[in-house]
Amino acid sequence: MIEQPGKKKMLLFSGSSNEELASNVASNLGTEVSTVESKEFASGEIYIRLNESVRGADCFVLQSHSGDINKTIMEQLVLVDALKRASAKRITAVLPFYPYSRQDKKALPREPITARLIADMYIAAGVDRLVSIDLHTQQIQGFVDQPFDHLTAMPLFVDYFKEKFDGPISVISPDAGGVGRATTFAKHLEAYVGFVHKKRDPKIHNEVKSFTVIGEVEDRHVIILDDIIDTGGTIAAASRIIKEKGVKSVNVVATHGIFSDGSVEQLKDAPIDKIIVTDTLIQNGNSKEIGKVEVLSVSTIIANALTSIFTDDSVSALFMGENVL
Ligand code: R5P
Repeated sequence: MIEQPGKKKMLLFSGSSNEELASNVASNLGTEVSTVESKEFASGEIYIRLNESVRGADCFVLQSHSGDINKTIMEQLVLVDALKRASAKRITAVLPFYPYSRQDKKALPREPITARLIADMYIAAGVDRLVSIDLHTQQIQGFVDQPFDHLTAMPLFVDYFKEKFDGPISVISPDAGGVGRATTFAKHLEAYVGFVHKKRDPKIHNEVKSFTVIGEVEDRHVIILDDIIDTGGTIAAASRIIKEKGVKSVNVVATHGIFSDGSVEQLKDAPIDKIIVTDTLIQNGNSKEIGKVEVLSVSTIIANALTSIFTDDSVSALFMGENVL
């Protein structure tokens, strides 16, 4: 056996959609984002060339998927392909927000399962491992045969709310599917758990038909916990029905703040004191216009996880096992 001590090399690459997050992750790692030459043909075709040798390196490719997500996905895939053809030893795609994740099963006949399609595309491009934060549903991890490290922004939210309120707290999931997540969060805040029963018409996307609160909220500080804010319709409606119950305050926490067009109208006047999101997605003007949005950074969480992956240490130990709940 021939050994080459000290030869293990880690490199962080980034797509163009959230360079601030990538550079914060890099500075937490004590390094810089590796540079690439990138341009776009007149047709829209993406060109990327790596500026340094990656032969034998442990490479991480981070990209945030919001805005023109079809383009951000393609850009990350092109980067992965370049790394594969340049003999990177291992390629890890870091998708702080996993795109197309809400179509994780067929709700109607003849629908696609896009969360699986995305996984297939990354594996076909040459990814050895995936990293994501607060997946819409945990089973997406099983859509690949490669390792999938699931991180959570929960520690940030717990720290934020730990000493915030004097009175009792209720953590409310805006749908039944999020009760597990809400239960973990509530445990750290010694809070009650409840949820909003959300009735949807599967034929109409981004629209909810009716809401009912299940759980105690009266005279309590309520924190609505969700994974995604897209149009804002879910939390706006949930906050209204909760407010009617005579609560002390309503705060909203969600890992991924998409804030699509229309969210300003939904959320500006909704009875919500603060909306806490993270920088898994770059914030557009909409969140500023809503006026009560605060952004916490997941850069340390990502950096710690990438370090553990690079050094073959446990990722779940960083979260005391609560990243897989
Ligand atoms: C739904 O299952 C998700 O967990 C979110 O509640 C939903 O995606 C939020 O979307 P919107 O903000 O458009 O209501």
